[in-house]
Amino acid sequence: MRRITVLGVGYVGLVTGACFADLGNQVICLDVIPEKIEKLKRGEMPIFEPGLEEVVQRNAAAGRLEFTTNYAEAIPNAEFIFVAVGTPSGVDGEADLKYIRSAVENIAAHLDTYTIIVNRSTVPVGTGDSTAQTLIERGKQQGIDFQVVSNPEFTREGSAIYDFLNPDRVVLGSVDKEAAEAVAELYRAFTEKIMITDLRTAEMIKYASNAFLAMKISFINEIASICEKLGADVKDVAAGMGHDQRIGAAFLNAGLGFGGSCFPKDVKALTYMAEVNGLHPQLLRAVMDINRDQRRRVVLHLRELVGNLRGKTIGMLGLAFKPNTDDIREAAAIDLAHMLANEGANLRAYDPVAMENAHRILDGVKFCADAYEVAAGADALILVTEWNEFKQLNMPRLYASMQRKIFLDGRNIYDPAEMRAHGFEYRGVGRPLNDASADNAPLAVEPSLANVK
Ligand code: UDX
Repeated sequence: MRRITVLGVGYVGLVTGACFADLGNQVICLDVIPEKIEKLKRGEMPIFEPGLEEVVQRNAAAGRLEFTTNYAEAIPNAEFIFVAVGTPSGVDGEADLKYIRSAVENIAAHLDTYTIIVNRSTVPVGTGDSTAQTLIERGKQQGIDFQVVSNPEFTREGSAIYDFLNPDRVVLGSVDKEAAEAVAELYRAFTEKIMITDLRTAEMIKYASNAFLAMKISFINEIASICEKLGADVKDVAAGMGHDQRIGAAFLNAGLGFGGSCFPKDVKALTYMAEVNGLHPQLLRAVMDINRDQRRRVVLHLRELVGNLRGKTIGMLGLAFKPNTDDIREAAAIDLAHMLANEGANLRAYDPVAMENAHRILDGVKFCADAYEVAAGADALILVTEWNEFKQLNMPRLYASMQRKIFLDGRNIYDPAEMRAHGFEYRGVGRPLNDASADNAPLAVEPSLANVK
């Protein structure tokens, strides 16, 4: 049993704390936002993450998991302090480290015994070194009072508990192998897939991994655009590619592209790190450009199918950046809502869990009780988030209630032939534009995406 403190009760920190408590450790989770801590003390979750509530409640009841806003409670006699605070994007894309700095200052102020500080947040390469430097400047001795270990997380929102307990690998980086080994012992309770390297390499593994996954998504989205023009079906292309072990089937789903609090931020941060060091990360820039254009293409399709969008009613099915989360950060739905509002369209939307979060940042959208209310009177529907409850909709009922019968499948979850048999003017992403063979598809030059704002 180890004494662990976790700073930050977001998607990363709360899952980390709850899972370590579930393994028998004594865990204190701290956050500077009192409302979050008060909710957790009442057994309520500040975030939507499947399975988390049960793990938190059970371990809090067992006394293994405590919550506080007070650093004086959380820091003293902790053996490990996991820093899992946010690192949002700054104006130029660089990671904003204000929360990390605040956490480290508070650690310095309350440290009272040798403690291993474990950086769980995704931080620019070199942050581990600057963390140590800050503590030394405040009179702490590295190796005596503290040590720093990088331990980037690879958990996906919506499956974070599973990903935490079934890691493909645990990456640890430190100047001090003993400190890394001490953290490794925490993970050996459930995995042996542990890799120990140095601080900067561990920090870079995280960025390189996320950037590669984002690139894989932008790659298949670029292939999807070519498929559309040439009459190939990108879903089968991806399936054919995925059988190759060197490629792998995962993260080859063409659609509206990637959102969330990680991929966009991490690709931007890595691009920034490259540029400030005099490099020209063309591939990383292209990953972001392609992702932005995936949203813009929806507007081009709608202009083509609906005509002038001013005054037309467009329905969005799903708002979260992916299913099984309430997180809407960088979600495709946010970009689409802004672009369609710029076109003068009337917007309706429904999401099973993300509407409360969406309400806070989307004005002028009519939030509906379900997919059928979204469809009522709509000229077009866009499937934005592939929630399970959208996969078996009563299509004749949707069709009958719509003004125009246009359906854009932003995540390719429907069968084009079935949708067209229902009577919809259906378009997916990277799928043949009609049922006829594609060799009559017009090789039109794509209208400029630049005029979609
Ligand atoms: C990601 C990484 O997967 C995880 O390892 C890291 O720790 C945090 O960032 P997350 O952002 O939570 O996790 O979700 P993920 O499932 O990776 O999806 C990210 C985005 O990519 C979503 O918007 C999703 O819709 C999109 N996506 C994913 C695609 O567009 N196509 C795909 O094939 C897969």
